[in-house]
Amino acid sequence: MEYTSISDANVITRKYMDSILIESRYIDSVTADLTTEFFGGKFSCPVMTPAFSHLGQYAGRELTGLEEYSIAAKNCNILNFCGMMENDLFQKIIDTGAKTVRIVKPYADNGKVRDQFAYAEAAGAFAVGMDIDHIFGANGYDNVVGEDMTFQTSDMIRSYIESTKLPFVIKGVLSVADAVKSAELGAKAIIVSHHHGRVPYAVPPMMVLPDISRALMGKDVKIIVDCGIGSGADVFKALALGADAAAIGRSMLPSLEKEGAAGVEKYVGKIASELRYIMSSAGFAAVSDVDSSVLRFMAP
Ligand SMILES: Cc1cc2nc3c(=O)[nH]c(=O)nc-3n(C[C@H](O)[C@H](O)[C@H](O)COP(=O)(O)O)c2cc1C
Repeated sequence: MEYTSISDANVITRKYMDSILIESRYIDSVTADLTTEFFGGKFSCPVMTPAFSHLGQYAGRELTGLEEYSIAAKNCNILNFCGMMENDLFQKIIDTGAKTVRIVKPYADNGKVRDQFAYAEAAGAFAVGMDIDHIFGANGYDNVVGEDMTFQTSDMIRSYIESTKLPFVIKGVLSVADAVKSAELGAKAIIVSHHHGRVPYAVPPMMVLPDISRALMGKDVKIIVDCGIGSGADVFKALALGADAAAIGRSMLPSLEKEGAAGVEKYVGKIASELRYIMSSAGFAAVSDVDSSVLRFMAP
């Protein structure tokens, strides 16, 4: 969608993230352990792949970019996400062996929504969810690559959650209001995201994150952040502001295009090393220890 806005939510988000600085605390500090527990699974670090869709084959290689980054997720032992796709492609993602969360679109065809959740569960998905921030478009409800989207009421979302044994993830939460509703409906995780800037002047996920984290305290709902995540420092700031994990997005595309799964593995490894270095330097030995006491905010 083309906006008349003269600014860009991605630029605003980057600026906000770069205005957050990190103190060091070396005395008594040790090398940090990045191991992360999520929905009962044990992962190497709190970095996740994005819920991407529509990636073709790069440089004439055999597999699609979606399969390639899923292989990287498996090899790095990080949680994998995928987005809009038909069941046959989802099966190929599952066949990579990656622990995968399937994010289903808010299709106007509700039968398709339910079929994709059911297929995902039967195929062995790790969790399912929906990107609620892809409902609206320039002409009312959005049309995504030829498919109509529609509104999602609390009752609809509750019924999806009740229809599956898998944990349910609500992606595209950017307010305390939606975060609290997600928890009340039974979601087990939310992704705080503006879907790479779909709304002009969208609040940076990390700006709203502390309020969301406070509102969900004690509610057994995991918090993931995405949008603009491209370094260990970005992941650290997300953790410090209340997230359990962060998802990389378009920042991994150059590595994916150039070297496929191996490129993404190197990229994730670099982010994890940066995160370990920053956590260790800031005095946090474990992911769950990280808090905002080491952050300093520059004046706008
Ligand atoms: C090519 C592409 C396809 C995407 N497809 C989906 C999708 O099908 N479902 C979804 O929830 N998000 C989708 N996203 C959004 C990402 O999951 C993520 O929220 C976003 O890219 C994060 O911002 P960043 O790229 O700045 O890190 C897509 C993003 C891109 C670039």
